[in-house]
Amino acid sequence: MAKLNDNYLKLPGSYLFSTVARKVREYQEAHPDKKVIKLSIGDVTQPLAPVIIDALHKAVDEMGKAETFRGYAPDLGYEFLRNTIAEKDYKARGCDISADEIFVSDGAKSDAANIQEIFSLDNKIAVGDPVYPVYVDSNVMAGRTGTYDKLTETWSDVIYMPCTAENNFAPELPKEVPDLIYLCFPNNPTGATVKKAQLQEWVDYANKVGAVIIYDAAYEAYISEEDVPHSIYECQGAKTCAIELRSFSKNAGFTGVRLGFTVVPKELKVDGVALHGLWARRHGTKYNGAPYIIQRAGEAVYSDEGRAQLKAQVAYYMNNAKYIYNGLKEAGYTVSGGVNAPYVWVRTPGNMTSWEFFDYLLDKANVVGTPGSGFGPSGEHYFRVNAFGSYENTVEAIDRIKAL
Ligand SMILES: Cc1ncc(COP(=O)(O)O)c(C=O)c1O
Repeated sequence: MAKLNDNYLKLPGSYLFSTVARKVREYQEAHPDKKVIKLSIGDVTQPLAPVIIDALHKAVDEMGKAETFRGYAPDLGYEFLRNTIAEKDYKARGCDISADEIFVSDGAKSDAANIQEIFSLDNKIAVGDPVYPVYVDSNVMAGRTGTYDKLTETWSDVIYMPCTAENNFAPELPKEVPDLIYLCFPNNPTGATVKKAQLQEWVDYANKVGAVIIYDAAYEAYISEEDVPHSIYECQGAKTCAIELRSFSKNAGFTGVRLGFTVVPKELKVDGVALHGLWARRHGTKYNGAPYIIQRAGEAVYSDEGRAQLKAQVAYYMNNAKYIYNGLKEAGYTVSGGVNAPYVWVRTPGNMTSWEFFDYLLDKANVVGTPGSGFGPSGEHYFRVNAFGSYENTVEAIDRIKAL
């Protein structure tokens, strides 16, 4: 008789965005005349840049001719894309990453969820709190997180690293030594970043204790300040302790197109075994490659024209972020983030819980954000506002909040 993977039954359920959607739906049904503005789910809204559309069209035409048709893509990705990434994302920043250390995929979410498979179930993970939920949930599914405490909303075998105003929303080195450390900078949901020296401390720590860092740099394109690392490989020694996840979703608007990559340096070893070989084996067995058409579109992201167009797109969203940050600050809110990330992290006023503030804004300003408590217990009394809306909607939403 078939038996379930009962780790799935332990998952508390992802109520965050479904609850947000339900509350918005109910509100709109009750108030059909109101224009509700959503600055909640972290999805882009600007159309794909012209250079990407051109690359897609060209690749589609190639697929229609026998001479240029392509079938299965190489497991690890086409060389034209991996060479470009190695050159433009890494070598240009002084990082010694080669094309054969880059694994092209359909996005960072699946890689963030799947990477834990190459590690033993005995590993203990450490995560920031609040956190992008995929890191924890994928480890729950694998059976690595112990038991769930409904009251504290935490797992017994996970090391939580609180990210609070006191530490500028950057986790401190944990007291208990973890085996796998998930770090995400610029951060979703807090919008926080770390300076290179701070990230270097993590790299040194991981090398010292033999831990592996899984570094999610999905928002690196939003970094505007000097001395904030775009890649963990800017730090000395990162190649022996870190895997890096990257996405084309937020730098190039590929949320619906799907493309990302993971870097596993060949020097990164656990028990003398190179993780590169394990991930190559996993990738080759369970994945048949990102589509040719999409990889060509990814290549276009790095052309001079592509870079210019996408820089403008990122600037558009960051202009929204600035409006949100300044507007809420003027209105008396305590805000952070929004400088190197498209997220502004807002302290709820008075003693409101995240959900109370959500209800208040929905009702009084018809604006939807994301309750911080949905990202972890340390997110309570915070609220995430994202900069991915249109400029007009963003201005209207913030002006409404200011007028309350
Ligand atoms: C921190 C973080 N990592 C990864 C992802 C997923 O990226 P992708 O669209 O490439 O799967 C997201 C998406 O919101 C994210 O916030």
